[in-house]
Amino acid sequence: MFLKHLFLALTGALSLATTPVSAQRPSSTPICDYYAETILGANTEANQRLLMVLLLHTTVLGNYTTPNTGIAVHGIATPGNFHGQDVNLIKYFTGELDSTNDGTTPHGVPVLLLDGGGAAPLLKNVSSYNTSSIQYHLFDHIEQYFATLLGCSKQGGAALPAYQGRASMYEVHKFMDLSAAELGWFNLQATLAIASLGFSKADVAIVNDTLYNVFSKRCSPAVTLVPMNAGPQLQSCCVNEDCPLDANATCAAYPNKGVGVPPEAANATNASASGTESPTGTAAVATSTGAGVPAMAVEAWGTVGAVLGAVMLAVAL
Ligand code: HEM
Ligand SMILES: *[C@@H]1O[C@H](CO)[C@@H](O)[C@H](O)[C@H]1NC(C)=O
Ligand SMILES: *[C@@H]1O[C@H](CO)[C@@H](O)[C@H](O)[C@H]1NC(C)=O
Ligand SMILES: *[C@@H]1O[C@H](CO)[C@@H](O)[C@H](O)[C@H]1NC(C)=O
Ligand SMILES: *[C@@H]1O[C@H](CO)[C@@H](O)[C@H](O)[C@H]1NC(C)=O
Ligand SMILES: *[C@@H]1O[C@H](CO)[C@@H](O)[C@H](O)[C@H]1NC(C)=O
Ligand SMILES: *[C@@H]1O[C@H](CO)[C@@H](O)[C@H](O)[C@H]1NC(C)=O
Ligand SMILES: *[C@@H]1O[C@H](CO)[C@@H](O)[C@H](O)[C@H]1NC(C)=O
Repeated sequence: MFLKHLFLALTGALSLATTPVSAQRPSSTPICDYYAETILGANTEANQRLLMVLLLHTTVLGNYTTPNTGIAVHGIATPGNFHGQDVNLIKYFTGELDSTNDGTTPHGVPVLLLDGGGAAPLLKNVSSYNTSSIQYHLFDHIEQYFATLLGCSKQGGAALPAYQGRASMYEVHKFMDLSAAELGWFNLQATLAIASLGFSKADVAIVNDTLYNVFSKRCSPAVTLVPMNAGPQLQSCCVNEDCPLDANATCAAYPNKGVGVPPEAANATNASASGTESPTGTAAVATSTGAGVPAMAVEAWGTVGAVLGAVMLAVAL
């Protein structure tokens, strides 16, 4: 399969017999399709899904499986350091911060997102041990999102459904108050992950540029992305004041002029604050968005036991 693809890619321009070149993706072949075939052997829907699984799980856990081209990936699940700044992204997933946007509460709520077995199922290439968990939906959604972003042409069947999450990345991430170093660390792990799987330097750079230019600047203008039919959406994930301002900044389009507010610790005792949220991280999360998005099914995700989940995660990681 790889050779056939290589042959097609090179026909007309180069002679196969005399070219010890490394493979190059034809610009008309989407990144997802190309690497489903070259890395996983065939451009099928199942392989496109597996490619997204490997991409995401490696970004989260660090390199844990084959294929691996000899590039080590740290992963975002354990603390790291980006250009001299300590970063620890797992805290946004454990329910220890009021950082989840449940779609209705006007501030973040604490939710344990890793309630489906933590790292253990991820190491087995599955999202969760439990299909009714928040973790199951979270990982499925991110895989579906990146599948669309990277042009997976087979997306839409049972193996790799269309994106089922929220369309505005700003809305999803706004209560985390992510900083430049946090985005930089996430993007570095994601790009190391795809490099470790065998993406070419040129394609790693394309993905990297997208991650930086679309999601990692403050006050970026609304753009139509995933799903396309949602229309233009605010996509800035970087909302901390230290994030670089988009060259075309439209801060007025964002709440609070685009400046994030740091999430409080979920264990902070404050009688006047969040009302019904309990510090044990129990909350319902909706998958639909507001502004401009066609109504999507709102799923009430089950409640979770944060203490049990945190213990599972600690063991798993
Ligand atoms: C420092 C960087 C990032 C962190 C710490 C982070 C963390 C998270 C967390 C905790 C969630 C769960 C939100 C919830 O359900 O309450 C989430 C969801 C998601 N994130 Fe990120 N994220 C980061 C960057 C990005 C970037 C750059 C993208 C770009 C595509 C992205 C795409 C998504 C998607 C698609 C979802 C699922 C949304 C849904 O299900 O509705 N994230 N992220
Ligand atoms: C991660 O990749 C590095 C570099 O290829 C390798 O030495 C290490 O064994 C890998 N770790 C795992 C768990 O696969
Ligand atoms: C995960 O997928 C990779 C790539 O196909 C494979 O090498 C590995 O064995 C899979 N892991 C498990 C536990 O199935
Ligand atoms: C799956 O997770 C949900 C929500 O976390 C929980 O209510 C349910 O009991 C779990 N089921 C199994 C089989 O673990
Ligand atoms: C990714 O983009 C950032 C910001 O432009 C840059 O600093 C970094 O070197 C790039 N990394 C790769 C692997 O292209
Ligand atoms: C800014 O927006 C204008 C108009 O939409 C566009 O032509 C231009 O390329 C954008 N510049 C940058 C740096 O994104
Ligand atoms: C609250 O949680 C933070 C970390 O999120 C921890 O440092 C602090 O000790 C906790 N405080 C209490 C009272 O448990
Ligand atoms: C308590 O709530 C008030 C009002 O919402 C807020 O200003 C304050 O920062 C909160 N303090 C803590 C420790 O949560």
